[in-house]
Amino acid sequence: MNFKEYVADKITEATGLDRNTVESALETPPDEKMGDLAFPCFPLAKVMRKAPPLIAKELAEKFTSDKYIDRAEAAGGYLNFFFNRAEFEKETVNAVMSAGEAWGSSELGVGKTVLVEYSSPNIAKPFHIGHLFSTAVGKSLPRIYKHLGYNVQSLNHLGDWGTQFGKLISAYKRWGDKDVIDKDPIKELLKIYVKFHEEAKEHPELEDEAREYFKKLEDGDKETTDLWKYFRDISLVEFKRVYDMLGVKFDSYNGEAFYSDKMQEVVDILDEKGLLTESEGAKVVDLSELNIPPCIILKSDGATIYATRDIAAALYRHRTYDFDKNIYVVGTPQVLHFKQIFAVMEKADWDWSKNCSHIGFGLVKLPGKNMSTRNGDVVFLEEVLNESIEKTRAIIETNSPSMENKDEVAKKIGIGAILYTFLKNSREKDIIFSWDTMLDFEGESAPYCQYGYARGRSILRRAEGIDYSDADLSKAVSDEEYALVKQLYSFGDAVKDAADKNEPFYINRYVTNLTKAFNKFYNTNPILKDDVDEETKKARLAIVDASTRVIKTALGLLGIETVESM
Ligand code: ARG
Repeated sequence: MNFKEYVADKITEATGLDRNTVESALETPPDEKMGDLAFPCFPLAKVMRKAPPLIAKELAEKFTSDKYIDRAEAAGGYLNFFFNRAEFEKETVNAVMSAGEAWGSSELGVGKTVLVEYSSPNIAKPFHIGHLFSTAVGKSLPRIYKHLGYNVQSLNHLGDWGTQFGKLISAYKRWGDKDVIDKDPIKELLKIYVKFHEEAKEHPELEDEAREYFKKLEDGDKETTDLWKYFRDISLVEFKRVYDMLGVKFDSYNGEAFYSDKMQEVVDILDEKGLLTESEGAKVVDLSELNIPPCIILKSDGATIYATRDIAAALYRHRTYDFDKNIYVVGTPQVLHFKQIFAVMEKADWDWSKNCSHIGFGLVKLPGKNMSTRNGDVVFLEEVLNESIEKTRAIIETNSPSMENKDEVAKKIGIGAILYTFLKNSREKDIIFSWDTMLDFEGESAPYCQYGYARGRSILRRAEGIDYSDADLSKAVSDEEYALVKQLYSFGDAVKDAADKNEPFYINRYVTNLTKAFNKFYNTNPILKDDVDEETKKARLAIVDASTRVIKTALGLLGIETVESM
């Protein structure tokens, strides 16, 4: 049963208007007191030669209450429809219960492939908080697309190639101590990398040495390749530790190095199409018609760059996955880079390039800390995650000292709190990291939603033995109950909006509002109290059950786990 379609049918009958026009004109009133759906009568004024309020009034008289519509009221130029609450709740709660985890899903994406590239940290450099932003958005998007039926591949485009490896090899050969590095790989590699930059200021010849090492690496020299592999392997061990903490998995770790033997073809194609021009010894694609700087394909020494590898990667992905969408979750500072490579791909007549999109996000500000790698003063992500878990644990220790599985709960809440923070606003807004807001159990936070879920689950545990499968929802039609069920109903719209705009924030806002409605409901409608009659109890329990399911599914689409009690 679709209430909107039902109302559209009724209006069509009463007015003789085109059915699709009617349905698309229907709006959700800004205030719940104004009903569930509003039909604006303004466009009818011309045809009917009457003022809209009069049209609304005359139409309202044509509607008598029936099974699904309780009443229709004229309000100014609008005709407002009020659903039959009991019927709407019954339909919705039953639908949620029978759909289970599939509530809010659709078949929209069946047969289509979406690639979500995210995280993509750089080898031998710390996985910093900007990568965490990408990882949070990127962990969520595949779940959202999968809910809509898409086939999704999660890709990690590791930064594992480029001239910085020449520098690192040079630094390692001068000051590297394998035993020390093995104990704390990324920190130690970063240390010698920073030292390289300091020393190179005094001794610029170090830069030449580094260039030579990178050249050797590109030519496949055994010793440098072994070192490169070693750096990559030990870095990945650390990255994977963080991914395990976050519950993130990738289908592919093909990083920049993977494309090192696939770039010549790109250079040849661009050359054949006459797109390459010389500029100060480098080969570039001119993009002046778009008012953006040229895209460098080969540097003056013949070396390829980041952009070349990205173009090769896009071509490879097109051939390998034949994608419908290829999404890059990368910080907004790289917006020009993506504009350039997409423009080059379009110029090469790759019609699929229009399906590539850069999904940017803002900066993360940690009051008082610096984010750059060069000077070594960075915040290590693993430390941030651990800090969140420890702080959560301390809160639990104070609030629920007798809880059994404190560690597990602290981990799910601590990690959830961080993920939520990144998905709380639209992506492009900057984030100021604040523990107080993140771990505020009363404010807009993951713990707030997780707590709502746990409260609901504890009610259901206490109600064990009560069979509410055939509950009569007409016993639970107060404003709070009805508002909550309406939230449950609209989950599918939030999922679609999130995918349309590649914005998990829509689901974040949804689940926060849902939890608010849930809290309001159980604070005003007693459920298991003795003076609540059996039928009302059952109706409310059915609503609790449906609500907890949807909170869990929605948090799941954000990559946030729930706990059964807290
Ligand atoms: N490794 C890069 C960085 O840390 C991000 C890679 C983004 N992805 C891409 N296809 N260029 O800044």
